Amino acid sequence: MNRVDGKVALVTGGARGIGAETAKALAGGGARVMITDLLETEGAATVAEIERAGGEAAFLKHDVTSESEWQDVIAQTVERFGGLHILVNNAGVYLTKPLEETTLEDWRWVSAVNLEGVFLGTKHAIGAMKGSGGSIINLSSVAGLVGATLGSSAYSMSKGGVRLFTKSAALECAQLGYGIRVNSVHPGVIETDMGNVVIDKTRAVLGGAGHNQGSDPVDKIHPLGRLGQAGDVAKAILFLASDDSSFMTGSEVVVDGGYTAR
Ligand SMILES: NC(=O)c1ccc[n+]([C@@H]2O[C@H](COP(=O)([O-])OP(=O)(O)OC[C@H]3O[C@@H](n4cnc5c(N)ncnc54)[C@H](O)[C@@H]3O)[C@@H](O)[C@H]2O)c1
Repeated sequence: MNRVDGKVALVTGGARGIGAETAKALAGGGARVMITDLLETEGAATVAEIERAGGEAAFLKHDVTSESEWQDVIAQTVERFGGLHILVNNAGVYLTKPLEETTLEDWRWVSAVNLEGVFLGTKHAIGAMKGSGGSIINLSSVAGLVGATLGSSAYSMSKGGVRLFTKSAALECAQLGYGIRVNSVHPGVIETDMGNVVIDKTRAVLGGAGHNQGSDPVDKIHPLGRLGQAGDVAKAILFLASDDSSFMTGSEVVVDGGYTAR
């Protein structure tokens, strides 16, 4: 189950958080992994961790908002590993600001990374994958499924865009017979650098004790009564990357401890 032996994967924003766990899960499943990110030191550390575990990975510095960098990263991945079969469009940024204080610059920054980055990656990966087939996994969020509180309107806009872009790209690839599946993943609040911003804000708004003292309001964010971990999301991504999900395209995989079931 969930094997990706012989496949080549590219994970953006793979230096830390969900991206790093995903890179490790894919390498553990047998893929060779190109990790890209703005953070070089953390990216190199993730590569070293994969190599220590017996896997194969490499790192490239990459800003997902740049089309020329995308072209270069995909060309270098194909040159180094001999192809591209899995793309995880994971790099993302979060903005927490009341709508009335959100500037056009803020809005465009969130859109450039979270939405345009996903568009550019999908566009250029299709060219590299259409001979062999592939799986593209786009990180959306519960904020792309339901409205978000706590000043997340720009973030919601970007993640809602990722959701429908994913479905349209999936249909186009299917119609063209490319053998490329495109799916989105929708995490709840996950304990990472990004997730901690939401967690801290929730504590500030709702009050309560520290996380391990039994009365922490963040435990109530999800009906399952705990925060998500990066590994929870990485496992779902690995499934979508593998041939075990071969009849899934344009779908949205929700990993949210029941958040959107209410
Ligand atoms: N943590 C959560 O609660 C949560 C919930 C839902 C969705 N997500 C989504 O999951 C993805 C990963 O989030 P995370 O929690 O691991 O966040 P994170 O902040 O820990 O990691 C994001 C990574 O993306 C990189 N990045 C940011 N801008 C970039 C750019 N322009 N080019 C290349 N890399 C860039 C960062 O350097 C970082 O390493 C994001 O798309 C995020 O929106 C996270």
